[in-house]
Amino acid sequence: MNRHLQNIIIFIEQDAHLSAEEKAALLKQVKDADKELEITSFKLDRTEKVKRTTAILLEETIQELEQKRKAIEETNTALQKSLEELKAAQQQLIQSEKMASLGELTAGIAHEIQNPLNFVNNFSEVSNELIDEMNEELEKGDIEEAKALAADVKQNLEKINHHGHRAADIVKGMLQHSRSNTGQKEPTDINALCDEYLRLAYHGLRAKDKSFNAKFETNFNSSIPKINVVPQDIGRVILNLINNAFFAVSDKKKTANENYEPAVIVSTKKENGKVLISVRDNGNGIPATIKDKIFQPFFTTKPTGSGTGLGLSLSYDIVKAHGGEIRVETKEGEGTEFIIKLPIA
Ligand SMILES: Nc1ncnc2c1ncn2[C@@H]1O[C@H](COP(=O)(O)OP(=O)(O)OP(=O)(O)O)[C@@H](O)[C@H]1O
Ligand SMILES: [Mg+2]
Repeated sequence: MNRHLQNIIIFIEQDAHLSAEEKAALLKQVKDADKELEITSFKLDRTEKVKRTTAILLEETIQELEQKRKAIEETNTALQKSLEELKAAQQQLIQSEKMASLGELTAGIAHEIQNPLNFVNNFSEVSNELIDEMNEELEKGDIEEAKALAADVKQNLEKINHHGHRAADIVKGMLQHSRSNTGQKEPTDINALCDEYLRLAYHGLRAKDKSFNAKFETNFNSSIPKINVVPQDIGRVILNLINNAFFAVSDKKKTANENYEPAVIVSTKKENGKVLISVRDNGNGIPATIKDKIFQPFFTTKPTGSGTGLGLSLSYDIVKAHGGEIRVETKEGEGTEFIIKLPIA
């Protein structure tokens, strides 16, 4: 019993003024109070215990949380690293895609350079003969005739120079095409660019597959102004669209009847302050089930090893970077048209 209550009991028992009943009643009250005190102290004790266990549990939870936070942090770092590795791999893939498309171009480029080289060879041979003739006339003293021959030689030299430049331009374009960093925007003749890549693509495919034959047409609007683009980038877009189109028509040719005439048409026009480039083919079209996927990186229906599936995804990125848009219209069994819109200003 509580010490103070015991003192009170002694005090009550010794008090001579209290009757026996009064003492008994008071003692009962003191004993009740003591019981209540005991219960309260028990409760307090229990609360203290609960408090202590809660504190321990809390400490454990905090530790667990800390461990989890660390694990998440580690996962994050790992993820970040994978992301960086993925980006590097993607960059490499883009570069190898560029090199691959350059490979596709080589045969076309060789074909394109052959023409100016033929001119250079022929005109230089002819000029050589003209100089001999000129010397003969000079010996004879016919100055007038010698002058006329000199004029011919000058004309030939101009042609040689022109074709030499043409060959140099083709080589320059080829080198720009393979460069890894993105080039500079410059005022570009879109019609000439389309024409160049159409011929390069066609002769490239012809060189790879002698049996390949398709009609190709151009329908260029000559009033299109030069527009500011990175020529080798837009060239790659056009090249990819044209290659896809030629692939589609030669694919259809394999199963179509003999009346089928594979055709690819590249056209340009001006519309609402934009330049439109269209590449249309009469191949098999794109099934509705895959139409949404064709712009995704690595999506391809070409046989393994023939396509990376990066062509359209890169084209999309390039056109977007030029503030333009690219869309597709297609009808299964009838053909496909890709349309690029580029802003003029
Ligand atoms: N003109 C087209 N006609 C029919 N299908 C097309 C045409 N152009 C693209 N496709 C479809 O879209 C897919 C993706 O084209 P994309 O140019 O991105 O890759 P790819 O041509 O398969 O490969 P890569 O361009 O790397 O050679 C093609 O595999 C084909 O299924
Ligand atoms: Mg492609």
